[in-house]
Parts: sequence; C-alpha cells; structure tokens
Amino acid sequence: MTDEKLIELLKSMSLSEKISQLVQLHGGYFGEARQLTGPEQQFNISGKRAYSIGSILGECGFEHLKSIQDGFIENQPHHIPAIFMADVIHGFRTIFPVPIAQGASFNPGLTQKIGSAAARECSSAGLHATFSPMVDLARDSRWGRCMEGTGEDPWLNSRFAESAVKGFQGDSCGESGKIAACAKHFAAYGSALAGRDYSSSELCERTLMEDYLPSYEAAVKAGVELVMTAFNTVDRIPCSINKKVMRKILREKMGFEGVLISDYNAIGETLAHGACADKSEAARRAMNCTVDIDMMSDCYLNHLEDEINSGRVDAKLLDEACLRILRLKNKLGLFENPYKDGSIENEKEYIYCDEFLKLSRTAAEETTILLKNNGILPLDTNKRIAIVGSLAASRKITGSWAIFAQEEHTVTLESALKELYADADITYICKDVITAEELLKISQCDAVIVAVGEDQSRSGEGKSVAETVISEEQSALLGLVASCNKNIVSIVFGGRPLCLSDVDEVSSAVIEAWLPGTCGAYAVADILFGRVNPSARVPMSFPYSTGQLPLCYSELPSGRPKPNEERYYPFMSNYMDVPNKPLYPFGHGLSYTRFEYSDVSLSSDVMKKGETITAEVTIKNTGDMDGFEPVQLYIHDVKASVSRPVRQLKGLQKPFIKADESLTVSFTIDEEMLKFYDEDMDFTAETGEFEVFIGGTSEAMNRTSFWLED
Ligand code: BGC
Repeated sequence: MTDEKLIELLKSMSLSEKISQLVQLHGGYFGEARQLTGPEQQFNISGKRAYSIGSILGECGFEHLKSIQDGFIENQPHHIPAIFMADVIHGFRTIFPVPIAQGASFNPGLTQKIGSAAARECSSAGLHATFSPMVDLARDSRWGRCMEGTGEDPWLNSRFAESAVKGFQGDSCGESGKIAACAKHFAAYGSALAGRDYSSSELCERTLMEDYLPSYEAAVKAGVELVMTAFNTVDRIPCSINKKVMRKILREKMGFEGVLISDYNAIGETLAHGACADKSEAARRAMNCTVDIDMMSDCYLNHLEDEINSGRVDAKLLDEACLRILRLKNKLGLFENPYKDGSIENEKEYIYCDEFLKLSRTAAEETTILLKNNGILPLDTNKRIAIVGSLAASRKITGSWAIFAQEEHTVTLESALKELYADADITYICKDVITAEELLKISQCDAVIVAVGEDQSRSGEGKSVAETVISEEQSALLGLVASCNKNIVSIVFGGRPLCLSDVDEVSSAVIEAWLPGTCGAYAVADILFGRVNPSARVPMSFPYSTGQLPLCYSELPSGRPKPNEERYYPFMSNYMDVPNKPLYPFGHGLSYTRFEYSDVSLSSDVMKKGETITAEVTIKNTGDMDGFEPVQLYIHDVKASVSRPVRQLKGLQKPFIKADESLTVSFTIDEEMLKFYDEDMDFTAETGEFEVFIGGTSEAMNRTSFWLED
C-alpha cells in the first residue's frame, strides 16, 4: 500500500478504532475462551472490540494464528490485520546459545546468522515481530537478565545489537522469512540497582550517555523497527512516561521513527512507581512521550478516549502513533498477505530443519569459553574418565526465554558424550549426591568432569540473586570429588558469570558452557576432547566474590589506585579481603594453541583531528592446532577534562590462524573512537596522548601511544 493510501485509511478510522490499534494483548483474549485472571479481567474487552486491537503477543503456530487473523479481517471495521509478536530471543523452536553466550563468541556475525535462522523458523509459524534484541548493558551478574544481553561493554554490545537487527530484519522486515526486531529495554534497564530486577537506575548523565545508550543507538541506526520502554526509572521518572528519555533522546537525538512499545504493563506500573495518580494520567503522559503501543495494560484501551475528547491529549499524537503502527503493518506486507510467511509447508520445512540444528551446535563451538586449563584438556579418549553432576543430564539448558522450546529436543551433555564418544571409557554418574562406591570409581579415573552451575530456572526475568555462587550441594560434590581425584574439569552451566573462585581452586580446567541451546552440548563434548578448539572470550567479568559487583574492566581510574594486585594497601582503593580484579576478566579466554603477538606498530604517532592512523600487530600461532583468536583493540585517553576509563574496547577482529602461521591484523583509528562527553557535555575528542593496547584480553599489556592534535 502507498503511504498516501495509509494516510487515507487513517483518516477514515474512528477514534475508538485508532486507539485500539495502540493496544497489545496476549492471546488469552482470543480463540477458544481461556481463563483470564486478576487485573486482566477488568480490561473489559471482548468480542468485536478485541478483534480490533493492533497486535497480539506470545502466541504461535500457523493454524492457530491464522484463525485469530481471520477473526480480525472479519471483525475489524477496516479489515486491518493484527501483528503477532513474541519473545523469540535466541531461537524459536531450535534454540541457540543464550545472548550472553553469543556475546562470548566475540563474533557479532554469529548473532546475525542466529537472528536470521530464528526469524525464518518463527515466521513460518506465523509470527511477524520479535521482542529482541535485548541490548541492555549489564555489569552486575546478580541481575538474572544479564543472560539476555551480550555483556558489559558498550562497543561490543553495539556491534551485537546491529547484527541481531540485521539477522532478524534483513534489508527489510517485509522480505520472505524476515520479521521486525525490537530493541529493548529503553533505557538502562540493565543498571538495576544492586542487581535486583525492576529496581531503579541510578546513573550519572555521562555514564548513561556513554556506556548505556550506545547499543540502543546502534540498533536504531541499523534500522530496528521497534523499541521497547523499560520498567525502571531513569532520573527517578519511569521510562514509559519519561519525556527526556523518549522524546529528547530516543526520538530527537537518535532519530528513531519506528514504533515505540511499552513493556508488559509498564504504563500501568507508573501508578505503583508513585509517579501517576491514575490510569488516565499514565495514558496521557505515555502518549506525550510518543509510546505507540500499550502492552498489557488498559491505560490506552479504557482511558485514552476521554483524554482525547477532553483535549488533555492532542489528537494529533494519536494519529501519529496510529500511523507508525499502520506503517509497520504495511512494511511487513500484512495488508496484502496477513499471514506473511506462516504456512503449514513452511513450518514443515523450517522448524528443526537440519541447517538450524547444525547452527545450534556450531554456534556453541564459538560461545563455550575455556576459562582455565593447566594442560589437562583436551581429554584423551583412551583415558578413564568419570562425569558427575545432575546438570550433565539436564535438559534445562536452553534458557528461561526459550518459551517455545520443546524440551525433548534438547541434547544433554551426557547424551552428547554417549553419542559422539561411544568408544571412550566414560563412567556416567550424573547426579549431585554420590555414594562411597561411586567415589571409589571416581578415585580410579584419570580425569573427572564435574557439571556445576545453574539450570535455566535460575536466570532470566525476575531471577535476581544476592549470592552469585554455585549451590551448597554442588560445592559439597566438588569437595568430595576433589578429596579423591585432583584431575577435575569443571563444566559450568548458567546464564550469568558466577563467582567461581572455589570452583577454580579445585579444578585443573574450567569450561563455561552457559545455556548452550538445543544442540550446544555436542560442542561442549567436542571441546572436552579437542575436536573443537575453543575461541570464546569473557563478555562480562567473572567476579572473585559477589561483593565486588558491579564490576567491569573499563572503570575510571581512582585518585588512589592500588599499586598492584599482590596484597592489600591501606588508604588505597582496594578491598581488604579480595582482589580488585575479577577472577576472569573481560576478553579472557583460552585456546588449545598459543598465539604470540608482535609489538603494536602505528602508521604515525601523531594523528590530526579528522584524519586516521592505523595500528598493526602480527600474530603467530605457535602451538600445533589451528584456531580463531579474538584480537582486541583498546584505547585509553591519558588526560582529559573529565576522568576517562582506564581502557575501552574500540575494535575487534577474529581471524583464523593455522598452526605455525602468522597473520597481520590492522585497525583504523579515527576521531570518532576518541570522543566522549567533555566538561560541558559536548561530545568531542580532546587533543593529547592516547594509549593503544592490542591483545587477546582486556588485560593485554602490548602497548604504544600517539598524540591527537588539532
Ligand atoms: C519483559 C519483556 C518481554 C515482555 C513480553 C516482559 O515481562 O520484560 O522483555 O518482551 O515481557 O513477553
């Protein structure tokens, strides 16, 4: 449909029809009557009115969605179809590693492939849009939703944000097999105070602008169709009614022209925040903030009409919001084909197709981190091995947002090992409480694999914890095993960087498997036995102790920096009981081969503003296995008008280097990379010295420097 036609359509719609387009409800209101509970009963919506709302969340399956859509075409006065949206976060039926694991791949291209596969699979089941990617920066692993983002670094998160959008949407969400993406939760939801979900965000303006906002902006620049408001307050105002955040930052500064949707009942929750007196005020303020869709509250549904009739809300705002929604429907091609890619044939062709199952395995090869290895890995198939821990046999390793996953398809570590390494001498004791007899067996093995960590029920929305440690039962298991066998390989599952100091202490090797998805356990098995050379890196610091949180590598220097990590220094910025540094820092990760870096060389040690220079290193694979190496470029502004982080990631490449071969990697440094909000809040680069570090971790000491001049 042309835009003129859309505008004509808008003009012909009644007030109530327009408002209905701004309403999103879950599928319980449609089809065979389902039980509606609690406040949802008070929405007082049924029959024809229900079949005129703009969008529905959380339902899937072509036949089911077709019957709902047919109801819309029949009942909506202008036959406007609904958009079907759902949380397809890291896969639809075929589940890929959780987003934090994808962050660990240090390969945004992987996320594009995953997004594309997920879009194809879910669109075949009739979906049109996903509430993904979650691009919230997270530096506190007490927050269970850190599992849904790609970690602690603004630059890396931004690259993943763009890739996810490209993966889901392609060049246009209207293309075959593509869906509309939604960047969430705007803004700074990941900064939840003390890691407690839904608590407030307490950030200074510079931290908000420089660290928390870039990933949303990257998604907007990549053309994301929707943005979701966050539950939290920013500067003490709930995001859904926060004019500065929505109008000034998102619409004006970032130039977002797409559909702004509230989080689930987030407009309604502004009352509980104590920021709105009633639902009418909430509706009015959310409209003034250009929130186009009210997800699962009845503020718009039951209160907007009065606000408009009384002139308290400008009718123009309603027209603008409604038009943005109609435009999205048009981009998706729904006026021509309301089912889009949904069909029985497509469901048969794409759901659990070989290509996606294979991707769920190869993705985990890139997301599984080798955190520690004293040489015990890779394991030798000729040696006697035992595997213990209930998580080794658990199917609850896809993730709490894998809401459409069918558990029977998930491969466990136990079944992967049995299938791939049938000839190996492995004793399976996949439980957390073991007998004396089993302990004897364990003591006679050459190596013991111990599965610890958290299953999917321990991370995700509302899953905050005060202690980010393994369970007491698992600690006891590890202790018992360690008492009779020193050759422990710990495999850690879970959706957050746990505090692994105790695990590290008794283990010869530690592998972070995350929640690897449908077929990810195959990858973990292959890494154990060296068929796959690990290449993943830490995307979010692993603390020594929960007391260190929040934690990130790119902190500001202190006026009293700790001289070194050896011991405690009185009246310096350090702890008396734990180191300052994390156990495993950002960017850390081991390989089965060794990479040696040359010194960093610069094309010039002076850079004029507006010009560029290049930084180069040569990397040699001196081990005897081919492998990928995430080469990381960090920059530090030595002296500026405001204090600048000790270093910041500004570039990344992940070349494949064959054993005994060398490769030169070069990065272009430009002025944009050096900009920050200065004393007057101008985004600018200041002249002076900049340090450059290139290496395989955020602690790389391979350094040089240059001067920026006018
Ligand atoms: C979550 C969102 C999600 C929405 C719809 C909310 O509770 O915060 O991330 O997209 O529910 O399921």
